[in-house]
Amino acid sequence: MTNILCIGAGYVGGSTMPVLASHCPEHRFVVVDINEARIAAWQSDQLPIYEPGLEEVVQQTRGKNLFFSTEIDRHIAEADIIFVSVNTPTKMFGQGAGRAADLQYWEKTARQILRNSTSSKIVVEKSTLPVRTAEAMERILNSNSNGLHFDVLSNPEFLAEGTAIKDMQNPDRVLIGGRETNSGRTAVEKLVALYATWVPRDRILTTNLWSSELSKLVANAFLAQRISSINSISALCEKTEADVSEVANAIGRDARIGRRFLQASVGFGGSCFRKDILNLVYLCEHYGLHEVARYWEQVVLMNEYQERRFASNMVASMFNTVAGKRIALFGAAFKAHTSDTRESPALAVCRALLEERADIVMTDPYALDNACQDLKDLEGRITYEPDPYAASRGAHAIAILTEWPQYAQLDYERIYQSMSKPAFVFDGRNLLDHIKLYELGFNVYSIGKPALTRLVNHGMGTS
Ligand code: UDX
Ligand code: UDX
Repeated sequence: MTNILCIGAGYVGGSTMPVLASHCPEHRFVVVDINEARIAAWQSDQLPIYEPGLEEVVQQTRGKNLFFSTEIDRHIAEADIIFVSVNTPTKMFGQGAGRAADLQYWEKTARQILRNSTSSKIVVEKSTLPVRTAEAMERILNSNSNGLHFDVLSNPEFLAEGTAIKDMQNPDRVLIGGRETNSGRTAVEKLVALYATWVPRDRILTTNLWSSELSKLVANAFLAQRISSINSISALCEKTEADVSEVANAIGRDARIGRRFLQASVGFGGSCFRKDILNLVYLCEHYGLHEVARYWEQVVLMNEYQERRFASNMVASMFNTVAGKRIALFGAAFKAHTSDTRESPALAVCRALLEERADIVMTDPYALDNACQDLKDLEGRITYEPDPYAASRGAHAIAILTEWPQYAQLDYERIYQSMSKPAFVFDGRNLLDHIKLYELGFNVYSIGKPALTRLVNHGMGTS
């Protein structure tokens, strides 16, 4: 039996460890966190994150070979392999503020591992980190190790929220980076063996440490770049009466381009894309690669433009004022099937409309608690309403900000009847049947498509 520890019971640690535990019943897994409330939630029936399929795997493994605890020191001492998935937010102070990763939790964790270790261990970076962080980790761990040896591996997480469990059960690839020394290679093989219990061997890639660390940043940068690319074209479509869905379909049929990740939207969110690209930008600047830095920075700037553009189109289309107008925001989560609101474009749009003094009602099936937390500084200015019918009652406009499939199934005739007229729909996810809405009487504005409106042209163009 191997004792496997994960430090950090967030989205990453909390969704990967139960799956690993379910495939490796002979090993013991413990997930620890400094946040007592979070650990208590992991031990209860009300898990701290919503992720389809997670509850089942946790029920199957918890109390058998998967345990949640706040006793970090004791479990470090017992562990053979330690995964580290503590958060690495963007640094908000000093050198690199707003761009570089804040590594204070990471370094603190490294020192804590060293302090509590009485045997040699494999330490696995699971958090996304700037390139060459493993080197710093190795230096700290081997600084005063009393004859103990620490192998540091990089095993970045590629799972996407909402499909995390599915992604983990059937990954496109597992990436493991390690040192090309005898002990480094042995450590890599140990980690490979864990994954090989269910992942085909040819999908487990092993590389050097730096390639592995960099690949994670680059994967996220490429994914985000596709969204910013199609979103930039959506702005052009709105000017030319081309339809961005038709363009995306036409280009995506080229196998070299591919069809996925070409959905134009109000913008990308989530804890990773923005943070990882800014990290990449910082790294390039650090090495004097200013042109490369500017190139990737544009992906983030385009996303900010798209969010701003959406909100200002709303205002322009509603006769240049939303002050005092009730607006129902459908969706707070950064994407469907998650309760996560980190970097959600819904929050950016909400803030922009509040600046225009709109009267905001926000609805979401799972993410209202998190949204309320994130928008605490605006307490009292937003109504949170889980029922979309109640949210839209008396509203001048609905804005679709998260692509929850249930929003496509609502009775829009009923909604239309209950709204102020003229009634507007702004579909930031191109989720709804726009022609049907138009026929019901709505003025419909979407992303990268001609607007369907009976009004004169006030904003995104008319049909
Ligand atoms: C985060 C980052 O967003 C991601 O980019 C990175 O790859 C891994 O960390 P996530 O799991 O989504 O991913 O973060 P979060 O939900 O914030 O979880 C991190 C957990 O670590 C928190 O529960 C926090 O309490 C815990 N933590 C943090 C510790 O246990 N010890 C610390 O010193 C700091
Ligand atoms: C992402 C990566 O996909 C994953 O591999 C990595 O480990 C973590 O970051 P995640 O942030 O959970 O995962 O979600 P993802 O599905 O990538 O979506 C990110 C954002 O892009 C969402 O706001 C989503 O709505 C948006 N998006 C995605 C689009 O606007 N259009 C698309 O075509 C795809």
